[in-house]
Amino acid sequence: MRNSMQLTVEQLFEHLWQQYIQINPQAKKIQKLFQARGETVVNDHIALRTFNTEKLGIMKIAGPFLDKGYKIVNDYDFEKKKLNAIHLEHTIEINHPKVFISELKTELFSENLQTIIAGIDAQIDPANVMDELFIASGRTWNLTFEQYIQLLRESEYAAWTAAFGYRANHFTVSLNHLTTFFQLEELNDFLLDKGFVLNESSGLIKGTPDQFLEQSSTMAAPVNVEFDHTTQPIPGCFYEFAKRYPMPKTGRLYQGFIAASADKIFESTNN
Ligand code: NI
Repeated sequence: MRNSMQLTVEQLFEHLWQQYIQINPQAKKIQKLFQARGETVVNDHIALRTFNTEKLGIMKIAGPFLDKGYKIVNDYDFEKKKLNAIHLEHTIEINHPKVFISELKTELFSENLQTIIAGIDAQIDPANVMDELFIASGRTWNLTFEQYIQLLRESEYAAWTAAFGYRANHFTVSLNHLTTFFQLEELNDFLLDKGFVLNESSGLIKGTPDQFLEQSSTMAAPVNVEFDHTTQPIPGCFYEFAKRYPMPKTGRLYQGFIAASADKIFESTNN
């Protein structure tokens, strides 16, 4: 039984947003810039990261959303980054953000990485994982900067997740709901002009109209993170922008994700 099933979907996302803008104030700044143009910002999706241990696997992280009317729509395999992922959509409210959850396939990494992840896992009380706000609980375990660097050598994803814990890795502005930008290119130019740094891995725009989804993102700005005995600046969270295209037969906007594009978006937290 899950603890404290009280939050509405909106409240759960508000918790995640408040936690997210604390370490990614550029998202709040960008939102304000859009609002100044008369826009109402609609969130397309959030992304959450975890490890595939029994206690912390993808289904544990999906729990609060499944409890609140979401269903799993698709799954993805990121072979090179050694990740599994799923995406969830709300069964009734199509305007509720989609949720993208990925997990690191820890068994495919070195003994050393597995030992560090097992050490993190051991510090988490399984009862806390059942709390609906566990996904916004941040890092609740000890980690040394040396361990972070060791993880970073093998997997940027592992290092980020170990350092930041449970929180939204990114929120995503739905370009389809903006009225003063039509093309993602215009939005990118606007942000570059305002001095924001965008992810250029495989070009500014990932995906094509033929794939029914185009995405771009900021690069995560460095955040001072407290490790055991030291505080170090490391890349935090980023803000994403998505334009979805209607599918030929139904005319309905494509709601999925493109694995090849997501693969490049993951690199928005690279150093
Ligand atoms: Ni995304």
